[in-house]
Amino acid sequence: MCGIVGYTGNREAQPILLEGLARLEYRGYDSSGLATVNGKLYLKKAVGRIAQLRNLLNGHPLAGNSGICHTRWATHGGVNDANAHPHLGGNGEVAVVHNGVIENYDILKRQLEAQGFQFKSQTDSEVIAHLIASYLENDLVQAVRKALPRLKGTYGLAVVSPRFPGILVGARLGSPLVVGIGDNEMFLASDASALGGFAKRVVYLEDRQICVLTPERWEILDADNATFDPEVHALDWQPADQELGTFAHYMLKEIYEQPEVLGRALAGRLDIGEATAHFGGLNLDAQELRQIDRIIMTACGTSYHAALIGEHLIEQFARIPVEVEYASEFRYRNPPVEKNTIIVGITQSGETADTLAALRESKRKGQRTLGLCNVVGSSIAREVDGGVFLHAGPEIGVASTKAFTAQVAVLTLLAVHLGRTRHLSYQAGARILDELQAMPDILRETLRCHDRVAAIAQKYHQASNMLYLGRQYLFPMALEGALKLKEISYIHAEGYPAAEMKHGPIALVDENTPSVFLIPHGSVYDKVMSNLEEIKARGGPVIAIACADDGLVEAKADDVIHVPNVPEYLQPLVVAIPLQLLAYHIALLRGCDIDKPRNLAKSVTVE
Ligand code: AGP
Repeated sequence: MCGIVGYTGNREAQPILLEGLARLEYRGYDSSGLATVNGKLYLKKAVGRIAQLRNLLNGHPLAGNSGICHTRWATHGGVNDANAHPHLGGNGEVAVVHNGVIENYDILKRQLEAQGFQFKSQTDSEVIAHLIASYLENDLVQAVRKALPRLKGTYGLAVVSPRFPGILVGARLGSPLVVGIGDNEMFLASDASALGGFAKRVVYLEDRQICVLTPERWEILDADNATFDPEVHALDWQPADQELGTFAHYMLKEIYEQPEVLGRALAGRLDIGEATAHFGGLNLDAQELRQIDRIIMTACGTSYHAALIGEHLIEQFARIPVEVEYASEFRYRNPPVEKNTIIVGITQSGETADTLAALRESKRKGQRTLGLCNVVGSSIAREVDGGVFLHAGPEIGVASTKAFTAQVAVLTLLAVHLGRTRHLSYQAGARILDELQAMPDILRETLRCHDRVAAIAQKYHQASNMLYLGRQYLFPMALEGALKLKEISYIHAEGYPAAEMKHGPIALVDENTPSVFLIPHGSVYDKVMSNLEEIKARGGPVIAIACADDGLVEAKADDVIHVPNVPEYLQPLVVAIPLQLLAYHIALLRGCDIDKPRNLAKSVTVE
């Protein structure tokens, strides 16, 4: 998704802006640009990576102690310099960068053109620049305030003007903005990760708030133009979090971080003496927990797959009916929801537009909402009634790996927590906690499959289609394995319940269509083995992820990846690693951009 960084202070703005923007590269984009104020507006834009922008600026830096910059993920208008941000308003009286979508830009554009404003791009964002310019008299903030009510849609935006040097204005409606507070310098960004190393204190803007920044002071205005004292947070992010270290890609680094991440997700939350788990932020007491008679989980992508595993976990250990809904569907479906139903949003970024909207819609109807989220201060983290942080650390790779593991770990703890307020016995709770505590080391052991997976990737990386098959706890993992492959290798892949093959998809099977079977020991092992043999009987190559002592799979499958033997409810955590590594190595062999796959963004903040 698009990234925004703004600066005003006593230092040259350009290097700070470019450094902050580089921290947002992982979010995915297709062009970038930068504007500074130094008596007049200086502007430079470039299609492609930030490196292209840097090349244009080499030897010709833009002067000025304040400025804004942007990475664009195209929504309106093609990928070209003209459509890159910043956009100028009027004859260069203002420069604006914008995240979000202005839905009424077409009529506004026609009105502004009728007033004589000349557009240079096909974007919706340029409308904002000319609209602010059309109100610009002797107060930049007032011009912004007059423009905003005419915009329909979403925005996170930053504005500078050569007529008002040193002033940086930000405004938020539906797309995140965070203010970084420095010593005689202020920062503005769409994501706190851009501020690591620059600011130690941050303020997260809420919807319909405006921030007015100068080197010496910061001010937050609400919709009524009244100032107030928002909560100031410590920024718990350090540049080291984003270092690649010895790894070739962030995705690989984050795959290897999973044992530690799992440990951090559990840390401080196990109550061994009571054989249960505790969370600091659920904001639900035991009585309220007992009243819950239905849970709807809503999420997107990999987080949706984690939710599907959470359905199994909570229904198994807490006996509470759970439904899982794609957020993009749930937000518009308006299902009947009883008062003792809670809505749980699962998200890494905490900014996914559909998940945020689904939770807001639920709150609007009086439902209690919870969020499982990885980013402190994110919109979802701040808007739900209670929640649990994943503590996975910044996830840079677009393909989610360690956040997924943390989500499944937290969902397991949540299932125990709910179960122990109802039917789950002390002994059962104690056993689960004991098995969970062993998992970081079991994941370390699982990572030893790496070389085997890399060798198998060599054999299958030219496939055009792949099938992923599993049952029960491992059906969501079939979906997740397929998504990992799709999103970084661009190979078409589909996940199915293994038994579903007979109802049509088996027509796809031929010698060029490998099937990945998730077949560790378990209650439906024999059924999955039958499905595996059905594929083999039709000439389909089979890659099996199975337990090391399974001679039958060795005899039947073309290739086998061994994983440790764990209880079924923990198998998703184990099989996730070979599935992630398989996608990684196939993508590597295909020369794909592992950490920034084409067309994708790390956080989808537009619907
Ligand atoms: C996962 O590998 C994808 N990058 C994507 O599906 C992601 O899980 C989805 O966009 C949801 O993001 P969130 O967890 O930040 O809400």
